[in-house]
Amino acid sequence: MTMTTTTTMPATKAILLLIAVLIAAAFTLAVATAPAHAQGGTYVPKKNDGKVYAELTKAPKKAITRRNPMEKDPDAEAAGANLYDQHCAECHGELAEGTRKGPSLRVDQVQQATPGTLFWLLTNGVVRRGMPVWSKLPEPERWQIVSYLKSLSPETTEPKPQ
Ligand code: HEC
Repeated sequence: MTMTTTTTMPATKAILLLIAVLIAAAFTLAVATAPAHAQGGTYVPKKNDGKVYAELTKAPKKAITRRNPMEKDPDAEAAGANLYDQHCAECHGELAEGTRKGPSLRVDQVQQATPGTLFWLLTNGVVRRGMPVWSKLPEPERWQIVSYLKSLSPETTEPKPQ
């Protein structure tokens, strides 16, 4: 009896110590990575497969080259900004900087897409990835939103880690 307790005690202690160290390490890691999520700024895709914005590369040629009929309308941007506030800001942020629900729209992938590509994307959405279809908005309104998106300056903050 005394033999077993003296020999097993140190082993138990070592295991407990190891568990404590592991818990501490896990906790430190959780605290270190939490702020990015907790502050609501960073988009966390449902599938973190690096394919956010990939849909923009899939527009058919006819869609890509379509011109924005509101291009020269001086009121299009302001009207688009209004529509953006109503329909898009909830997920993409008031400044299109992105939220937890939707990615930034100030990134190159979006800013360098043609107006026709953006129009096509709004019309079709990326439903399986959480981006709704906007085909119910009248075409002129979709083009106004495109005008607004095109008026945004690229991201001024540090690039997001992905
Ligand atoms: C319910 C939340 C939600 C709303 C509302 C929303 N979006 Fe999105 N949007 C997303 C998500 C999520 C993605 C990322 C899709 C992905 O993984 O590619 C996205 C992606 C995009 C993209 C990039 C395309 C891509 O391939 O990812 C553009 C451009 C875009 N949205 C514009 C808009 C505009 C303009 C509106 C308003 C008319 C809008 N979104 C409304 C959630 C939303």
